[in-house]
Amino acid sequence: MEKIKVAIVGAGNIARSCHMPAYLKRSDVEVTAVCDINFERAKDMAKQFGIPKAYPSIEALLADAECDYVDICVWNGSHAPCAIAAARAGKGILCEKPMAASLEQALEMKAEIEKAGVPFMLAVCTRYSPQAQLLKHMVEEGKLGDIYFAKTAYTRRRGTPRGWFTDTKKSGGGPVIDLGVHCIDRSWYLMGNPKPVRVSASTSYAIGDYQTKGVTRWRALDSDVSAFDTEDSACGIIHFENGASLMFEVSWAMNGPGESYSQLLGSKGGARFDPLVIYGEECGYLTDNTPTVGNADVFYEEIDHFIDCLRTGKKPISDLEQAVTMQRILDGIYKSAKLHKEVEI
Ligand SMILES: NC(=O)c1ccc[n+]([C@@H]2O[C@H](COP(=O)([O-])OP(=O)(O)OC[C@H]3O[C@@H](n4cnc5c(N)ncnc54)[C@H](O)[C@@H]3O)[C@@H](O)[C@H]2O)c1
Repeated sequence: MEKIKVAIVGAGNIARSCHMPAYLKRSDVEVTAVCDINFERAKDMAKQFGIPKAYPSIEALLADAECDYVDICVWNGSHAPCAIAAARAGKGILCEKPMAASLEQALEMKAEIEKAGVPFMLAVCTRYSPQAQLLKHMVEEGKLGDIYFAKTAYTRRRGTPRGWFTDTKKSGGGPVIDLGVHCIDRSWYLMGNPKPVRVSASTSYAIGDYQTKGVTRWRALDSDVSAFDTEDSACGIIHFENGASLMFEVSWAMNGPGESYSQLLGSKGGARFDPLVIYGEECGYLTDNTPTVGNADVFYEEIDHFIDCLRTGKKPISDLEQAVTMQRILDGIYKSAKLHKEVEI
């Protein structure tokens, strides 16, 4: 089988700690190049992982390196320019979440990707946990009946990432865009991706740039960024065309316990994870079943799915249309919070 060639865009944390280890486990994929606007960083990553070529920009990479697709692992605000350059060069795109820093950017990306007709997948790794995959299977088999409500949270008590994450010019927003995209996307996927129609949300800035001791946080490689204009937390409810709704809560900082879960309520049964529990009724009694599921490297599974789609021409489970719809939801959350009222999506 001919190897698929990938070029990594952005030599930061996620590329090194999650994507690259997944590529190294495969013999059917070859990482041919890496680029970063911090050229030293790109060279360092190339040296660390034995990647043949390093470049100081995506333009330089696209002009010279051989690749079937680019794996975009840069700041949220750089996703759109990198994806657009790749699409114009006829390359496929695997793009880290969120799709872009704004809906406008996401729509520009969509137009260019469609014009070029290149494959695209949004890398939303939480869809690939064994719990999520088993639950998806059960929902598709109708085991929970009609899903009419879901609830999700991804909250941290103190876990505001440092660096570009808190600079909306580079990130597009705070926990809504960073964590909301994970837990809302996963729950929406499990609900069967109904069409979102309205959202009501609020954001809070009450804690800000805290000085709490004894806590750890994700540090972007350029952690010296001083801008701090992102929300600490947000909550809200998203309504769908089929009558279902999804409540969410996200935070980087709040005065309460952090948690991460998705819960679905259906006409025949319900479910919540992590850990996965299926709530049902058997022989007239309530049951709480805990299916046995193993662990998985969600980044490996996500990349595996994209490679499979490239080889077979299958549509990715998080395709361009869904990525844009997810961005519409994120955009609606910020709009609703700003206007203090429910908005249409
Ligand atoms: N799936 C997950 O769980 C997960 C976790 C963390 C981060 N992420 C996503 O991964 C992306 C990167 O996050 P990170 O934590 O690795 O950040 P990082 O700061 O560690 O690395 C980002 C790198 O991108 C480079 N860069 C920025 N703009 C560029 C451009 N136009 N061209 C080339 N290089 C550019 C920076 O110089 C930096 O080296 C973000 O979109 C983030 O949301 C996903």
